Amino acid sequence: MRFAQISLVALVIPVMAGASFDPLQHSGPASPYFDAPSQDGIPFDTPAGCVVDQAAYILRHGSRYPEPGSFAGWQALFAKFQNTSYTATGPLAFIPSWVPPIDDIPHEPLFLSSTGALEAFGLGVDLRKRYKFTKGGENITIWSAAQQRVLDTSTFFARGYLSQGNYLTTPSSNRATIISLPDSVNYTFANSLTPSSGCPLYETGDTSATANTFRATYQTGIANRLNKFLHGLTLDATDIGPMQDLCGFQAEVDGDTRFCDVFEDSEWLDYEYAHDLNYYYGSGPGNPFSATVGFPWVKAVSDLFALGPEKTTPGGNITPPALIMGFTHDNNLPPVISALGLWNTSRMHGVYPLSHTTPNPQRQFRASYLVAFRGYVALERLACGAPAAPTATHVAGAAPTAGPTKSFVRVRVDRAPVAIPGCTSGPGSTCPLAQFTSYIDTTRATASGDFVQRCGLQNVSNATSTATFLTVAPPDIQEFLVGLN
Ligand SMILES: *[C@@H]1O[C@H](CO)[C@@H](O)[C@H](O)[C@H]1NC(C)=O
Ligand SMILES: *[C@@H]1O[C@H](CO)[C@@H](O)[C@H](O)[C@H]1NC(C)=O
Ligand SMILES: *[C@@H]1O[C@H](CO)[C@@H](O)[C@H](O)[C@H]1NC(C)=O
Ligand SMILES: *[C@@H]1O[C@H](CO)[C@@H](O)[C@H](O)[C@H]1NC(C)=O
Ligand SMILES: *[C@@H]1O[C@H](CO)[C@@H](O)[C@H](O)[C@H]1NC(C)=O
Ligand SMILES: *[C@@H]1O[C@H](CO)[C@@H](O)[C@H](O)[C@H]1NC(C)=O
Repeated sequence: MRFAQISLVALVIPVMAGASFDPLQHSGPASPYFDAPSQDGIPFDTPAGCVVDQAAYILRHGSRYPEPGSFAGWQALFAKFQNTSYTATGPLAFIPSWVPPIDDIPHEPLFLSSTGALEAFGLGVDLRKRYKFTKGGENITIWSAAQQRVLDTSTFFARGYLSQGNYLTTPSSNRATIISLPDSVNYTFANSLTPSSGCPLYETGDTSATANTFRATYQTGIANRLNKFLHGLTLDATDIGPMQDLCGFQAEVDGDTRFCDVFEDSEWLDYEYAHDLNYYYGSGPGNPFSATVGFPWVKAVSDLFALGPEKTTPGGNITPPALIMGFTHDNNLPPVISALGLWNTSRMHGVYPLSHTTPNPQRQFRASYLVAFRGYVALERLACGAPAAPTATHVAGAAPTAGPTKSFVRVRVDRAPVAIPGCTSGPGSTCPLAQFTSYIDTTRATASGDFVQRCGLQNVSNATSTATFLTVAPPDIQEFLVGLN
């Protein structure tokens, strides 16, 4: 009997059979995790003859309940739907009996949902199987920003990653140490998983208000269309945002997708583009400080890739594992895209900077493909052998031995391989390691600038421009031990 390999996460959100358009894949930061489609036509698999020998991930936490602010919006919608007697038909027929999916207010808003826990656990299982880095019983160190939902994501990841076997009676084996870094504070500067909070000028570069201007161009039209299904109640433009958010959020919290059916495809595309503008101009390439705050993590990983897996650096007191995991928040992912110089190329004429008014379907920068819950940017270091002789037999997972190996780097964003501009000569459009190192140290270092200088921290005596937390334990961390005990 053959067992199909299925993603745990695919079990959570029902696939809309036969539907070609899935609003849950166009909901930007409210989307549950899904693998982004291939954008550059690069196959997803690791190229034949190559194995990944080192990888670094920076991830958003898993699906969560709404923030208290957006929850207040849901409560206002509920109050409005309950306030009066009215008739609702068509896609809105359910709203008189709709109840917000929060049943324990002190413990739910702000925190992870069960879907988020499953997304994290599932990734742990996936990466253990995909890379085969950690021998049974070995420990792993993981980095996390300290907000509870982020720590919970890293904990569930660790539980998934370590879920094989039985180590109940061997507490010195099969454990994860989670290094918890201060979250969104201004005194850790570049040495953080939330570095935008450590860059005082970053806020001045945030022009994401353009997203609200764009929302104002379509929300009234949607309200007018929907009001034809209501008698005795009138939706306003301001009701549309919370209703569209409820498609993804309620699907994640309790599996109810009725809000997903309320809106038409074009209305989802407008909703999605507003999120694209929000991230592109807020924390992405449209913010002139974006690359500056994303660069320190990219540079730290590039330096570790140049050394190779599981190497200790001079002055370091942590030996990073071959799989380097860092858990954080949505707004810390677009800066990594900027620092890597992805998705913003002037070679795509007329696409970037993103238009404030007109979505260009050719754009690759899409919030849904980057900052969906548990979204990530990953860098993989590949070891590739000389092409094996046609008669050679391959052992799955083993490094090819036909010739000397060469190293290459691949970027994946929500699993989709993304080409590094001007550096695609390796197998599967990967970038030769030495060329990647030089691209980061010259082109991207120049474009990103020095953190202290660009952020206006010259007069702050202890400000730092580098992220050293992967190799040197900072003073104000907390450590948590996770194991299946
Ligand atoms: C409820 O209805 C009253 C009377 O129509 C109105 O003044 C009030 O603003 C409504 N409240 C909500 C939450 O919609
Ligand atoms: C693994 O972690 C456990 C718990 O902290 C510890 O006792 C043990 O020494 C670690 N093993 C190794 C090889 O570091
Ligand atoms: C950090 O924030 C505090 C409180 O707002 C402020 O007093 C301090 O100057 C900030 N530090 C830096 C380096 O910006
Ligand atoms: C920098 O100095 C400030 C003020 O003394 C302190 O709060 C902060 O923890 C220091 N940061 C680092 C990284 O040492
Ligand atoms: C993105 O592209 C725009 C337009 O060409 C440019 O002004 C901006 O500096 C680029 N951002 C980054 C991070 O490279
Ligand atoms: C640093 O301090 C000097 C001397 O007080 C001042 O002239 C300069 O503007 C300050 N620079 C920044 C970036 O705050």
